[in-house]
Amino acid sequence: MSGKTGVEYLQRLKETGEKITSLTAYDASFARILDAAGVELVLVGDSLGMVLQGNDDTLGVSMRDMIYHSNMVSRACRRALVVVDMPYRSYDSVPQACDNARRLQAEGGAEVVKLEGGIEQAATVSALVKQGIPVCGHIGLLPQSIKKYGGYKVQGRGKAAAARIRTDALALQDAGACMLVMECIPARLAERISKDVTIPAIGIGAGAHCDGQVLVCYDLLGLSSRTPRMAKNFLEQGGDIPQAVRAYIRAVKTGAFPEICHTFE
Ligand code: KIV
Repeated sequence: MSGKTGVEYLQRLKETGEKITSLTAYDASFARILDAAGVELVLVGDSLGMVLQGNDDTLGVSMRDMIYHSNMVSRACRRALVVVDMPYRSYDSVPQACDNARRLQAEGGAEVVKLEGGIEQAATVSALVKQGIPVCGHIGLLPQSIKKYGGYKVQGRGKAAAARIRTDALALQDAGACMLVMECIPARLAERISKDVTIPAIGIGAGAHCDGQVLVCYDLLGLSSRTPRMAKNFLEQGGDIPQAVRAYIRAVKTGAFPEICHTFE
């Protein structure tokens, strides 16, 4: 594909069954490598609070941080769609969410904003979409709610919890979200949700049967202090960073990643 990737293109990939590839980037150099390799979606994740800033969670990331990093990434992405996380407490009310999402677009170059939460965020998502701001939902494990869970734990195990997450997915879709990230949920639940929603549902720690995969690029390159179970170090096979990114793209497109060992039941 040539030219800039839009939400419609990702929607077409879902409809044709081609897997969507996504990685995080926080600066222009990494973004340029991911973009040139052909990753369709570059996420400026608030995971930067952990992998760049060295914090234990994402809660300390500010709007200023997100604008600073998304500005660098968006400048480098010629083709990939740039999705930017709304940081913790930047969308507590609908007017605040609208103001901050507009700032991420205008000052940070965001093409889509991502926010965490399910049905409780439906009104916010709907307001953003009415203002012409494309929104990606994020369900399952919500890193901004980590204090509530008491750690990074798989979500959606058991019938009631699974039903709640499925309801969240449908509520976000009904509110106008153009795609979803599903984090750390059982593979069978992620597969069911991917089939039930008409928008792309991209997984991380959610098994192979999602519409696409996203990983933190530092995990893919073995740069994190430890590689989490859901990730794979693609640099371990040898080669350089662009080769590792291309190997990831190939593995996602062919269904070779994630394997059972990266998946939860
Ligand atoms: O912040 C981030 O990197 C994310 C991914 C884990 C999906 O939200």
